[in-house]
Amino acid sequence: MPREAIIHSSDDDSFDDRNSNNQDDLTNENATDSKSALRRNAEEDSALRPKRMDEMIGQRDVFERIKITVDAALKRREPLGHILFDGPPGLGKTTFAMCIPAEMGVDFQIASGATLKAPKDLIPYLTNATERSVLFIDEIHRMQKAVEEFLYPAMEDFRIDLTLGEGVNARTLNMQLKPFTVIGATTRAGLLSAPLRDRFQMREHLDFYTNEELASIITRNAQKLSVGMDDEAALEIARRSRGTPRIANNRLRWVRDYAVSRAHGFINLEVANKALEMQGVDILGLDPQDRKYLDTIQRVFAGGPVGVEAVAHTMNVSPDTLVDEVEPFLLRSELIVRTRRGRILTEQAIYHLKAINRK
Ligand SMILES: Nc1ncnc2c1ncn2[C@@H]1O[C@H](COP(=O)(O)OP(=O)(O)OP(=O)(O)O)[C@@H](O)[C@H]1O
Ligand SMILES: [Mg+2]
Repeated sequence: MPREAIIHSSDDDSFDDRNSNNQDDLTNENATDSKSALRRNAEEDSALRPKRMDEMIGQRDVFERIKITVDAALKRREPLGHILFDGPPGLGKTTFAMCIPAEMGVDFQIASGATLKAPKDLIPYLTNATERSVLFIDEIHRMQKAVEEFLYPAMEDFRIDLTLGEGVNARTLNMQLKPFTVIGATTRAGLLSAPLRDRFQMREHLDFYTNEELASIITRNAQKLSVGMDDEAALEIARRSRGTPRIANNRLRWVRDYAVSRAHGFINLEVANKALEMQGVDILGLDPQDRKYLDTIQRVFAGGPVGVEAVAHTMNVSPDTLVDEVEPFLLRSELIVRTRRGRILTEQAIYHLKAINRK
């Protein structure tokens, strides 16, 4: 199983870069181009991601609580209690998980629930965990049941039970681990089993950011990308970023490219508006996929109620994509409601679609 290396707290930020290393099968010239484009994106992603907790913007309640436990753990020289982050994609779960060990000056390792298929996949992470280090398990809801059960004693008593040999010769070996911290991240807290959820001392839900918070993130990142921008433009990009820092960063990068190509490299309100319109991002920040979702419910299912699977089939996308990426912001913006009989468009959504179609 591919394993992420241990990252020592003194190392620089190599995590994001490693995501772009696995494209050896790209050979022709176009592929080389897209490879370097991907690498450039990954490098920019890494540059824009806060490295220390103090650089993080928004999520103040969560931030304060984490600060307190980190501070207490440092003063007591004990490992931090296990922490679970949940919330829609792009809101900062991984960012928190990476800033915490940096704050504590401890090692950290990164695993993904999807690749932990059997207990043996988890063993190297556990045996490599150094004192007070952090093991980050992304998409923890995708971990197999057997792996989950193997993790329980590791989280509770810092011990694992290994079975050696088979049949009558089988022996159980008890192995003591260094005290360490698991940080889990999931977009689907509801899919986590109760025993796993209960083993996390802290459970933090990340919510969407305010426009002002996103505007601060955008302003800071425009500086990192060395592009000039005024406050009005920052707020406009923020308004159209679906309350999500990752989307704000993606929109900012597109607007920057547009400004460089069409507007002498400076981003004002007009440039931001034109660039975002060209991408099909509307005044609520909805992109073509969001509108297609609303439009499908309206046109094909007479406004609902309709099950998410039916909408997904009609749109030819996976229901998971709709549930994880599309619906959370539409629910939060009160453009749809979820009832026991299915999704229903609200008056506001119908009004929005009408206004957009009139244009
Ligand atoms: N509080 C924050 N302040 C500034 N930037 C942030 C903050 N949170 C997230 N970001 C930016 O948004 C990007 C996406 O965040 P992150 O990768 O942490 O999201 P996530 O919740 O782990 O998403 P996913 O569920 O898709 O894994 C980061 O690379 C970072 O640049
Ligand atoms: Mg993440």
